[in-house]
Amino acid sequence: MSSALRIWHPFTNGALDPAPLLVRKAEGVYLYTADGRKIVDAISSWWVNLHGHANPRIGEAIAQQAKKLEHVIVAGFSHEAAEELAVRLRKWAPRELTYMFFSDDGSTAVEVALKMAVQYFQNLSRPGKTEIVALAHGYHGDTAGAMSVSDESPFTAPFQSMRYNVHRVHSAYCYRCPVGLKRESCHIECTNQLEELLKQRGEHIACVIVEPLLQGAGGMIVHPVEFLQRVRALCTKYDVLLIADEVLTGFGRTGKMFACDLANVVPDLMCVSKGITGGFMTMGVTLSTDRVESAFRSENRMHTFYHGHSYTGNALACAAANANLQIFEDEAVFDRIATIARIHGERLSHLAEMHQVGEVRQIGTMGAVELVANDAGYLSALRSKLYGFFLQHGVLLRPLGNVVYVLPPYVIEPEELHHVYDVITEAIETLL
Ligand SMILES: Cc1ncc(COP(=O)(O)O)c(C=O)c1O
Repeated sequence: MSSALRIWHPFTNGALDPAPLLVRKAEGVYLYTADGRKIVDAISSWWVNLHGHANPRIGEAIAQQAKKLEHVIVAGFSHEAAEELAVRLRKWAPRELTYMFFSDDGSTAVEVALKMAVQYFQNLSRPGKTEIVALAHGYHGDTAGAMSVSDESPFTAPFQSMRYNVHRVHSAYCYRCPVGLKRESCHIECTNQLEELLKQRGEHIACVIVEPLLQGAGGMIVHPVEFLQRVRALCTKYDVLLIADEVLTGFGRTGKMFACDLANVVPDLMCVSKGITGGFMTMGVTLSTDRVESAFRSENRMHTFYHGHSYTGNALACAAANANLQIFEDEAVFDRIATIARIHGERLSHLAEMHQVGEVRQIGTMGAVELVANDAGYLSALRSKLYGFFLQHGVLLRPLGNVVYVLPPYVIEPEELHHVYDVITEAIETLL
């Protein structure tokens, strides 16, 4: 009998996928494996790492916090690291978002927002407003509610019975426009379907959830800002709450602190996670307007939001988040982001000329290449071939099927990012 449990890895098939690589240590953009490899983490370890692995400032902040207070129940109690984070986030978040509710990760931040939206209308004695609208190609996490608002995919296929019904409307996937138009001449007609739905069922709809400007796991699909602006306007018109899932886009990923800032849009609820702790600790936060929270502040105890997780508001995670935001204040983070964006732009424009490339997409620190494939989608056979090629060449990239994307930590040096693109170019030339 083996002396240890075997780790069941996520998104990994024990029969088909290579054995996981053992990472001994990491520093900056590099992972160092037990078998002596040095690998560039060009996807920030599932989009969480901002200022480099083992960033000493964040590490030290956690160590100091651990000596003082590791965790305390945050129902009936609070603590200094959480209070400090509330002040820091206030500086960066859209002004109208005045409350923050802690959870554990991106999925739970989404679950919280959805439940808040539904209970909000119940608390206002409008119990008929319970339905939820979500976008085609959306991804919001793997828990049951987050999976329900995510679009159908290989991730959700076995769980149809567990997914609740939502209204699914077009997203602005311009490369494969859902209404057959061209971006150069369109007027965001893809939102007409949402307007029709809200016109007909607005009285029953509680919220619309979107990944603002960038749909991540659905294929790194970049939306025009007008799409988000129109969705906001329609939500306001039909008295429906807008939930912005900024779990991926938050903390500088799109070039501004939040994607909503780029479009000058203020959602009613905003979910953040991933980058909030700089990639060190797990934490989710759902921000809300005063208007939403005030429906829960009531003489009626049944108006309470009865939701919470054991590790909610964890002090070590708060300390990491505070250190992360301090780095945004002290260091030239947005200059680094601008440099990454510039290099993405240069390199993608060359890749766009290759016949194997269908479309290139970019927003801020995210650069993506959609490759031409007759089996386009997450299960494209290209995925494993490319993944293996990249790793052999010392680069961690996890293509979403036939979509290769680069989403590096902000500390990546220009020559390191160019190297990542050199490897991508070689992979396309060799494998396609
Ligand atoms: C937009 C978005 N929402 C939610 C999630 C879920 O976050 P987590 O994996 O931390 O539960 C993700 C994860 O990739 C995401 O990209």
